[in-house]
Amino acid sequence: MQVSAVLAVDDIDLSDIAFWGRPWDEREGAFQTLRRERPIAFFEEPEIPEALSYVIPKGRGYYALTRYADIAHASRHPEIYQSGRGATSIVDMPEEMLDFFGSMINMDNPRHARLRRIVSAAFNPRMIKSIEDRIDFVANDVIDRVAPLGGCDFVVEVAARLPLAIICDMMGVAASDYDTVFNASNVILSSGDPEYVPEGTDPMVAFMTAAQQLNLLMVDLATYRRAHPTDDVTSALVNTNVDGENLTDTEVAAFFILLVVAGNETTRNAISHGLLALTEHPDQRALWQADPAEIAATGVDEIVRWGSPVIWMRRTVAEETVLGETELHEGDKVIMFYNSANRDEDVFDDPFIFDVRRAPNPHIGFGAAGPHFCLGAHLARQEIDVMFRRLFERLPDIESAGEPDRLLSPFINGIKHLDCRFSPVAAGR
Ligand code: HEM
Repeated sequence: MQVSAVLAVDDIDLSDIAFWGRPWDEREGAFQTLRRERPIAFFEEPEIPEALSYVIPKGRGYYALTRYADIAHASRHPEIYQSGRGATSIVDMPEEMLDFFGSMINMDNPRHARLRRIVSAAFNPRMIKSIEDRIDFVANDVIDRVAPLGGCDFVVEVAARLPLAIICDMMGVAASDYDTVFNASNVILSSGDPEYVPEGTDPMVAFMTAAQQLNLLMVDLATYRRAHPTDDVTSALVNTNVDGENLTDTEVAAFFILLVVAGNETTRNAISHGLLALTEHPDQRALWQADPAEIAATGVDEIVRWGSPVIWMRRTVAEETVLGETELHEGDKVIMFYNSANRDEDVFDDPFIFDVRRAPNPHIGFGAAGPHFCLGAHLARQEIDVMFRRLFERLPDIESAGEPDRLLSPFINGIKHLDCRFSPVAAGR
């Protein structure tokens, strides 16, 4: 990839949605300029749409951390750089949202550790290994549906299907509810994109309605699992007792919303960025296809670095401190731009080259080391690995066709649609 430094440092405004509509190479050029010239730049907060200003007041601005070292430092010091104050979004979360979105990603210790302990067993490498067959089954099923067609919208028909089915499966959500979950998660992460929130609809109302749908679905399931436990994660959540306490239905539902939101779009986008990058870099694709087991071990992480599906997370400063040369004060917001850290020339050789054999690859696409490191990282890696293994085996000439239709969002590096083509084959393994 060639980066284009078309913006001078004073012309870069990360809070302007128009910035995120610029081509990818221009955005990368701007982050390269920030890393070099103003690595901890201050920005005013984005304008709040009028329809939302009654619930979300405009905040006092934020510092954009664009260098790897600063983000790693902030993540390692959660006592100073907190997640629970006002949330990990740029705006502070209004009270009415906390019931739905107040899960562990927006908490600090001791509550964070308590919740993470309950759920971490379900996501450890051993457990993820145990569902490998299921992941494989779903990946094959997804491919069966499109195999005779010779082409499809890769995002909607392929990339989105696997993570959704797996997370619903793990939680014990019925297949008949998948579409509800899929549509609701699109609305929640859409940043008001008109494809998901129709014009004329109050985005806040759409957002809260979607959250309410997921909440109701989960409260029903949690109630049922209390009486009829199985080996799914919901049963573990409702029946585990930590330090004498059980999770409330609201806590279980908020955790489910977090999983659906954190686990679906991200993995879907990683898989879509993967097909795009492998199509644009045929030499890398040839390496992967020649030796899937060997190359996936490094290639999957290169896809996550390259695509950086989660662009940033916020922390809020708890006490006076100094980061780099910047003095920070209590209540200051810092936004950790993972996409920028993942192209930091001080850490990565040739960061703008897509290299499926990159090693070491200390990318922080799953967050940097610290208590909030992505809970689903093993699962996501496994899903990406299995999806490409099966795609290359069953549709060996699959490639993306045409330009990706990108999500206009400062938060998720998303692809909404991506056509793909391949020689049609009959369904069945
Ligand atoms: C390629 C796919 C994925 C990417 C890029 C990704 C990225 C991230 C990032 C950057 C964080 C850090 C948040 C922070 O520091 O505040 C995070 C946290 C989290 N992720 Fe992922 N994620 C992915 C897949 C998944 C999956 C599949 C799941 C679960 C099904 C998941 C569940 C979570 C949860 C629960 C947290 C919060 C952890 C905590 O606060 O302790 N993620 N993820």
